[in-house]
Amino acid sequence: MKLLITAGPTREPIDPVRYLTNRSSGKMGYALVEAALEAGHEVVLVSGPVNLTAPKAATTVQVETAVEMYEAVAREIGSCDTAIFCAAVADYRVDGIEASKIKKTEDELILKLIKNPDILGSARSEFGFSGVLVGFAAETDDVLAHAQEKMERKGCDLLVANDVSRRDIGFDREENEVTLLFRSGESQVLSLASKKRIGREILQVVENLRDQRKP
Ligand code: PMT
Repeated sequence: MKLLITAGPTREPIDPVRYLTNRSSGKMGYALVEAALEAGHEVVLVSGPVNLTAPKAATTVQVETAVEMYEAVAREIGSCDTAIFCAAVADYRVDGIEASKIKKTEDELILKLIKNPDILGSARSEFGFSGVLVGFAAETDDVLAHAQEKMERKGCDLLVANDVSRRDIGFDREENEVTLLFRSGESQVLSLASKKRIGREILQVVENLRDQRKP
């Protein structure tokens, strides 16, 4: 397989010294990259800013904003047969980034946020991607219902649901526990384990999906 994997957060600048972001460390996405390389696959990693070293064996594209991630994915996805979207992409960016540092005044500061492109949601429609498409969903409530809705809306073959209301798993933790949702309506829980192990287990499922597609 040749996989495209997105990982980490995006950073949306407010001015030259401030930005909006989220708590993603990149650990889950990088664990998937390692699992794919171990299994002998080719990997294109599109990574937001993280404190992790990208494996040399992967082709890595470093990005900062959601728009940059969108552009990198648009460029790379056509050469891949499988895509896993693990990145925590900011849904909104600041409208009108200030060129100079915003000064504190007596007034409140109001930021206008505008929508970022939905990268995973563009895979089928805009990028014309017909390979195995895997999305993640980071949810704090009604986890499976929201994840199911995302899987259908974004045209995924597999959706990895992550309950990020839990303190022991998810964002910036060493371990994870996820539920896999399949298009058939079936689901499978991958019980609490290191992200490395969860990455390997997800990859095996993705390999099976890929094999089922082979003529
Ligand atoms: O990085 P870690 O600290 O290891 O944490 C791992 C994780 C919690 C970030 C990871 O397991 C996870 O759940 N990733 C998805 C995070 C997320 O932003 O989910 P979402 O429900 O907001 O987005 C749904 C899907 O659409 C995701 O596949 C996301 O990559 C994609 N998306 C979202 C918004 C957007 N503008 N473009 C996208 O492609």
